Amino acid sequence: MVGGVAGIVAHRGASGEFPEHTMSAFEAAVAEGADAIECDVRLTKDQHLVCLHDRTVERTSDGTGAVSELDLADLRAMDFGSWKRPGHPEPVVTLDELIELARTAGRKLFVETKHPVRFGGMVEQKLLAALQRHGLAKPADLADAPVTVISFSGSAVWRVRRNAPGVPAVLLGEASRLLGGGAATAVRAQGIGPSVESLRERPDTVAKARAAGRFTYCWTVDSEADVALCNGLGVQWIATNHPARTRSWLRG
Ligand code: G3P
Ligand code: CA
Repeated sequence: MVGGVAGIVAHRGASGEFPEHTMSAFEAAVAEGADAIECDVRLTKDQHLVCLHDRTVERTSDGTGAVSELDLADLRAMDFGSWKRPGHPEPVVTLDELIELARTAGRKLFVETKHPVRFGGMVEQKLLAALQRHGLAKPADLADAPVTVISFSGSAVWRVRRNAPGVPAVLLGEASRLLGGGAATAVRAQGIGPSVESLRERPDTVAKARAAGRFTYCWTVDSEADVALCNGLGVQWIATNHPARTRSWLRG
């Protein structure tokens, strides 16, 4: 426990300094003392879950195309590192590989499902199957859960809660959507995930969630003022691109 914040979550790994969703970013998150790692997951054409944020690969690799139209082998042939650190090529990371890293390092994961409508519930289905395969979907004390699923999609949260009661789920959104509690209640989310920009506008969101028995996960908290805001409000999890800096601000 650091101040009022229970944990620092490395957003896409330590992505301020390292290329997001690469092993260098995830390993740096561990080295910088993050309590947990956030990642986005998408399905490849041949149904593998990979850690990527965008629908297409252009921004973060030397390849082209939509993730959903590429096989894992196609992605493995691309370089996801050099766009951020020239001369440091890095491969795509699968969810299985990230789970192994987190398990070895003793860190929690916050896995965000990014799912084109055309995939229906397939992303959550594959994710829960992976968690079961790794023994991570057993009913657990909420605070001890090794993996939490986060999503802007109420239906995705609902599918996780219905199909894997031992896996906590967080409904992401703006504070104005989450404030009343109805949206989270409807999908049985144990946590809410407002953006820090929206939390600045409605800081009462955190106390209201706590009163309703929910924890708060706030993203993306990269300034000292926002870290102080979250700490003062008692936000349980703060997702940041800069874990080391955040840790020192919380200590200071
Ligand atoms: O952790 C939640 C946050 O990552 C949501 O936004 O676009 O960075 O996935 P985005
Ligand atoms: Ca995300």
